[in-house]
Amino acid sequence: MRVLTGMQSSGNPHIGNYFGMIKPALEFQDNPKNECFYFIADLHSFTSKLDPEAFHQNQKRTILDWLALGLDPEKSAFYQQSDIRAHTELFWILMCGTPMGLLERAHSYKDKIANNIEPNGGLFSYPVLMACDILLYDAEVIPVGKDQKQHVEMTRDIAQKFNHHFGETFTLPEARILKSVETVPGLDGRKMSKSYGNTIDIFEEEVALKKKIMSIPTDSVPLGQPLNPDTCQVFAFHTLFANPNLETLRNQYKNGDIGFGDAKKQLFTLIWDYFQEARERRTKLQKETTYIEKILTEGAQKANSIAEKKLGLVRSKLGLSAKHLV
Ligand code: ADP
Ligand code: TRP
Repeated sequence: MRVLTGMQSSGNPHIGNYFGMIKPALEFQDNPKNECFYFIADLHSFTSKLDPEAFHQNQKRTILDWLALGLDPEKSAFYQQSDIRAHTELFWILMCGTPMGLLERAHSYKDKIANNIEPNGGLFSYPVLMACDILLYDAEVIPVGKDQKQHVEMTRDIAQKFNHHFGETFTLPEARILKSVETVPGLDGRKMSKSYGNTIDIFEEEVALKKKIMSIPTDSVPLGQPLNPDTCQVFAFHTLFANPNLETLRNQYKNGDIGFGDAKKQLFTLIWDYFQEARERRTKLQKETTYIEKILTEGAQKANSIAEKKLGLVRSKLGLSAKHLV
C-alpha cells in the first residue's frame, strides 16, 4: 500500500499534529508491505506569509521533529515539497481543470475569510497543490486529521475529472482518519491549532510546558469535592497520553480524592516522560546537519523519479511533448 502525507512548516508541531497525524502515519512504516512518503509542505506554508527567516526556522524544526519522533529514512522517503518541481508544474495544469466553485467551497478557505484573514491566491488554490502532492505518487492512503478530510475529497474529485477526460491517469486516494484523535482539543477545549494559540508543542521547554498545563481552565470546585472526569480537559489529556493509572485517577476524581492542581502536576510528568526518548534523539540530531541533508536529498531523489514519471504521462496526455508536433 502506498501511504503519503505532508505537513506544513508553519510553526512548532504540536500534540494535535502528533496524535492526529504524525503517530498514525509513522505506524505505517512498520509494515514492510507499505511504501511510505512523508514530506514537509513548505510551499503550502507560503500561503500564510512569505518570510524567509521564519520559513527557515520552521522548516528546520519540523524536519527535526519528524526524525526525532521516529521517521525512519530506511523505511520511508522523507523530502521537502519544494525540492520536487513536478508539484508546481502539475499544479498549473490541474488548476486549469478545476472549477472555481469547487475551491470556493473549501472549509479551510472559508474559515480564514470568516476570521478576517486577507486571502491570497495561494490560499485559494491550496487544495489543488495538495492534490498534486498526492496524485503524482499514486498514493492510496493519506493519514490526516479531520480538518483535511475535505481536501482529500477534493483531490479525488480533481483526479476523477482528469481520468474521465484523458483516460486512467491518477489513483484515487483515501483519507485515513482515526476517530479517537480526529480532532485533538487544545488548552481551551477548541481544536488544537497553531492558528488559535492553544497548543502544547511536542518539544515544549520544561518550564513553558508546566506553565501551559497549569493554565488549563477548570471548573471552580472546592478541594475534597467530586470532579467530573468526563467534562475535564485535564482528564482528557490523561486519556490521550494513555496514563497507565487512568482508572485510579477516574476514581480519585469521582471520590473527591484529587484536586485539579495535582491532576495537572501528574499530567505534566506524563507528557514530559512520554516524549523523553524523542527529546534525546532530537538533541543529538540537531548537530547532525550533514546526515539530515543526506536523508532529504535521498528522499527527494526517490520522490522525484516517481513524480517525474507521472508528470511525463500527464504532459503526453495533454499533447505537451515534442513528439506531438511531428
Ligand atoms: P494547524 O491546525 O495547527 O495549523 P496543520 O494544518 O499543520 O495544523 O496540521 C497538520 C496535520 O495535523 C494535518 O493532517 C491535520 O489534520 C492534523 N491536525 C492538526 N491539528 C489537529 C488536531 N487538533 N487534532 C487532530 N489532528 C490535527
Ligand atoms: N494541507 C495539509 C495541512 O495543512 C498539508 C498537506 C499538504 C498535505 N499536502 C498534503 C497533507 C498532501 C496530506 C497530503 O495539514
